[in-house]
Amino acid sequence: MSQSPTPSRPSGCPIDHTALAATQNLPSQGPTGCPVSARAAEFDPFGDGYQQDPPEYVRWARDQEPVFYSPKLGYWVVTRYEDIKAIFRDNLTFSPSIALEKITPTGPEANAVLATYGYAMNRTLVNEDEPAHMPRRRVLMDPFTPEELKHHEPMVRRLTREYVDRFINDGRADLVDQMLWEVPLTVALHFLGVPEEDMDLLRQYSIAHTVNTWGRPKPEEQVAVAHAVGNFWQLAGKILDKMRQDPSGPGWMQYGLRKQQTHPEVVTDSYLHSMMMAGIVAAHETTANASANAFKLLLQHPDAWREICEDPDLIPNAVEECLRHNGSVAAWRRLATRDVEIAGIAIPAGSKLLIVTSSANHDEGQFADADLFDIRRENASDQLTFGYGSHQCMGKNLARMEMQIFLEELTRRLPHLKLSEQSFTYVPNTSFRGPEHLWVEWDAERNPERSAPDLLDHAHPVRIGEPSSHAITRPVVVQSAVHAADGILRLRLASPDGKPLPRWTPGSHIDVECGDTGLSRQYSLCGDPAETGVFEIAVLKEPDGRGGSAWMHDHAVPGARLRIRGPRNHFRMNESAEKLILIAGGIGITPISAMARRARELGLDYQLHYSGRSRRCMAMLDELAALHGDKLHVHAKDEGLRADYAELLAAPHAGTQIYACGPQNLLDALAGCCAVWPEDALRVEHFHSTLGTLDPSKEQSFEAVLKDSGISITVPADQTLLAALRSANIDVQSDCEEGLCGSCEVRVLEGDIDHRDVVLTRTERDANNKMMACCSRACGGKKIVLEL
Ligand code: FES
Repeated sequence: MSQSPTPSRPSGCPIDHTALAATQNLPSQGPTGCPVSARAAEFDPFGDGYQQDPPEYVRWARDQEPVFYSPKLGYWVVTRYEDIKAIFRDNLTFSPSIALEKITPTGPEANAVLATYGYAMNRTLVNEDEPAHMPRRRVLMDPFTPEELKHHEPMVRRLTREYVDRFINDGRADLVDQMLWEVPLTVALHFLGVPEEDMDLLRQYSIAHTVNTWGRPKPEEQVAVAHAVGNFWQLAGKILDKMRQDPSGPGWMQYGLRKQQTHPEVVTDSYLHSMMMAGIVAAHETTANASANAFKLLLQHPDAWREICEDPDLIPNAVEECLRHNGSVAAWRRLATRDVEIAGIAIPAGSKLLIVTSSANHDEGQFADADLFDIRRENASDQLTFGYGSHQCMGKNLARMEMQIFLEELTRRLPHLKLSEQSFTYVPNTSFRGPEHLWVEWDAERNPERSAPDLLDHAHPVRIGEPSSHAITRPVVVQSAVHAADGILRLRLASPDGKPLPRWTPGSHIDVECGDTGLSRQYSLCGDPAETGVFEIAVLKEPDGRGGSAWMHDHAVPGARLRIRGPRNHFRMNESAEKLILIAGGIGITPISAMARRARELGLDYQLHYSGRSRRCMAMLDELAALHGDKLHVHAKDEGLRADYAELLAAPHAGTQIYACGPQNLLDALAGCCAVWPEDALRVEHFHSTLGTLDPSKEQSFEAVLKDSGISITVPADQTLLAALRSANIDVQSDCEEGLCGSCEVRVLEGDIDHRDVVLTRTERDANNKMMACCSRACGGKKIVLEL
């Protein structure tokens, strides 16, 4: 890069850097010695590469140049997850004011046309800065809460069924034209309180609006687009005027009109007019596109399609994975309000940013095996398709509900659906993304409702809000079941199609459902994690138990199919400990054996202590002896070989970590022995919570300030923080909801926490910077501030 009139350019770089630096207010040199690399110079979000697959198109950037300047677009492009989330988090530094700005400015002729319609699109929830934005959002958000959205479920289902009825016997359909466009549009109109008439016109206007805002219409198209947008604007105004005459209806716009009466300075006329138009597009188009993308993706992965047909409980998470893998919002825009650095790159004040959320959703740093489409992915709801923070899409749970219902109805009524041969086209634009047509076909003779009409009477309940990992089950088949010791059955479980099972680490467990009994049991994995096709567990029959282990002994025979959840690890081994003391009592050997195997593989200094009543009832003895030799210490009571843990643990050692699993009396004794050890030296496996149910008479309500979202919520005495967050439409993952697993962890920025989980160590609790939302509370009813 040079400042001379004829700059010397790095080879392959087509950009006149000096001119660029001068006109775009760019630093004269970027980290590569050149502000614009050759790849960055070629970046074209309107080209076929981006339109077909945005995350793939910017893979090079995610890998090598996560923030780059695009001279063709005049934007800085940001591609990694953490950077994009940080941008969403800070809407003062990164203003949303350009989110709806025309990405390609229209010419004077089109502007003149718009002016003839009185077009005066103003700020909306999407592109408004503080301090105006949050007061409006707070006033207008109630109709989006899960509680309120429930009322719309019957309407969405009725509409979906009506549309499916129209083509179910045809054997072929374009799902976009025949269902996925119009149903979300009608739902959007219902939600907003808009009459259904003029649907065709609205449809055309809505497409024009997308092209007008996010696309690059050719000069000759701009005038036609401007007419359509102007008409859209005027129609929105007329509908609003009608509503004003009777604002008592159930729609969101009527709600806004009623709020205008109490908050006239917040909910203004011009704001409502703009929101009416933006709301139709936002509520309709993103959902239509997301649904088309989801069907396309699922039908391109027939195994996943088959699985959701067989188990509709998987649908909510499948929806989330579709939104992650191929969402309908490929990118958003922000404006830097001050000089700032993103990933070490200096971004001058006034710079425009294209934040490629679809790329963030494929960031390996956030999503393991990110390109893999996995409908059981546990952190799929971390996707940024809905944005994040105070500008996160308010309608996200309405969209999720619609997508679940579309999938649920079609998997039940047309499980034999297939994607037809076709090539996909997209309306060229940077942000909204979905195929214009989606042709599918099926053999109508095989429609299940022809032989089983009562299947139309069923409907699987919708989950409003982010999915619960608790519902994500997986079928396995019992490969072998062998007697491992008195009362202990050792099972090898494999996937029915012979495919690899998810990877696991020592300390992991799975939940096994006991048929239709409603019982499920947790079992630690005890095999070799390197054996990817099999999970091994050992099941102790507990005659005085509630029947789960007895069911397993009776039914888990070779060839039997079981449903499992997980694996999950609440009992992770610290592989960098100087020394490990591994202690198992009875069936507690299962996780401990996996830890010992790993310690051996890593060449760690470890001891393995295994105690039981007698060798007859101690599983795995031979293989443990073969693997661990003299590191294994067997304490069989009937041989008089009782373990003396008081002596073993008499001298504390700072670098030693103790892991124990076994009966409660053993764990209590070990806790006593370790009282003089450093805090957290002893880690034990917890399968059951000691929490008990929330007793409102003993609890206090407290205020939680959600810094990223810009709202405060009150957590009443009879509600958990997790439940209160969900009621406020905040996504927080959860699994056990008993303080055992750590999946609901939230970061705490201020305030004292009353920790009630068994996940955090004492040191982590003392740090006072995170808490489990499912069980922990603010101390003494005081305020806490969360990074949410
Ligand atoms: Fe498991 Fe909260 S959901 S600790």
